[in-house]
Amino acid sequence: MDKIILITGGAGFIGSHVVRHFVKKYPDYRVINFDKLTYAGYLGNLSDIESAPNYTFIKGDICDAEHVERLLSAEAITHILHLAAESHVDRSILDPIGFVRTNVLGTATLLNAAKDVWKGQMEGKLFYHVSTDEVFGSLGTHGSFSETTAYDPHSPYSASKASSDHFVRAYHDTYGLPILISNCSNNYGTHQFPEKLIPLIIRNIRDKKPLPVYGKGENVRDWLWVNDHVRAIDILLHEGKAGFTYCIGGNNEWKNIDLVRLLCSIMDGELNQPEGAAASLITFVTDRPGHDMRYAIDATKIMAETDWKPTQDFRMALTDTVRWYLANPQWIEAVTSGEYQHYYERQYAGR
Ligand code: NAD
Ligand code: TYD
Repeated sequence: MDKIILITGGAGFIGSHVVRHFVKKYPDYRVINFDKLTYAGYLGNLSDIESAPNYTFIKGDICDAEHVERLLSAEAITHILHLAAESHVDRSILDPIGFVRTNVLGTATLLNAAKDVWKGQMEGKLFYHVSTDEVFGSLGTHGSFSETTAYDPHSPYSASKASSDHFVRAYHDTYGLPILISNCSNNYGTHQFPEKLIPLIIRNIRDKKPLPVYGKGENVRDWLWVNDHVRAIDILLHEGKAGFTYCIGGNNEWKNIDLVRLLCSIMDGELNQPEGAAASLITFVTDRPGHDMRYAIDATKIMAETDWKPTQDFRMALTDTVRWYLANPQWIEAVTSGEYQHYYERQYAGR
């Protein structure tokens, strides 16, 4: 096998797209998906490739040092693509310590295992850490984040991801671990857990439930199609310079309220209902505490050093995304049964 890649968090939203991409595109690579299967991990996301000869799933926790170390040496892992994380800002406000555990302690545990197992043989190895633009904090009306922006996280989620980024750099600088970090903006696409804005709005329009928009809906996010993110990860894993950071974004900024209105208009069309029907469900609710106003990415570096660029027309890719959710109600039911109901009531009651 050319490369033996351990993908952590491969049963989640972005991770499952990454796993599918590598399994299909690189039959000569071995892909091992290591996931704890929390509420956000769903193996059904990967049913189409689960019997591929170059794919293996292992259930496990990145905080379990003994398991991680055994795996790295037994499977002779050459590359770690680290996506496992607690990933939802609102949940981090409800349960910050769970985020410290997985995102900080889990990442440090994985780094430490890589340092020990790869000791004296770092050549040809890579620890690739998938991170977020949220570590940079919040922008005013102008400017964008780049690789040199100072860290300024505000939520327990972004603070835990910032901390994990610092540990990754510290293991490079202290132990010579070959690392790479990418900080990406908000992803959208199929298989995203319906607690994040886009799938939550689609599901609530389908179910004729209120569409909760935090504050006045003025906050701005940059949206990137998940498969464009996956392509960037593929390119950086092969061509990125070890020890460096890359910012990835869609150059596609939307105010939340405008995005929700666009989704409403697409859904009215898809559900054959009068224009304005979905928008009548929009409900402004109490703002998220510490809500970052604006994120934007300057992706000049990755575009200058590689041939990556975002490919999708937003309206078209969003329409495809809406169609996938409408065509897959059984997927929505599978991931939202049980724990999700409890979370939803806790998160939105009384707002
Ligand atoms: P997700 O919540 O959909 O998936 C996370 C996965 O990690 C799940 O499969 C879960 O079971 C697994 N996991 C959680 N804790 C674990 C543990 N202790 N051990 C092993 N597995 C564990 O997240 P996502 O949206 O796919 O994000 C993936 C990564 O990308 C995260 O690191 C996130 O910070 C980063 N990121 C996400 C976005 C976005 O818009 N979603 C943008 C930029 C960066
Ligand atoms: P989210 O999808 O949670 O991503 P993030 O907080 O990581 O950017 O939220 C995207 C934006 O949408 C963010 O500004 C918060 C807002 N939002 C709402 O207005 N209502 C909601 O119900 C949710 C989940 C998010």
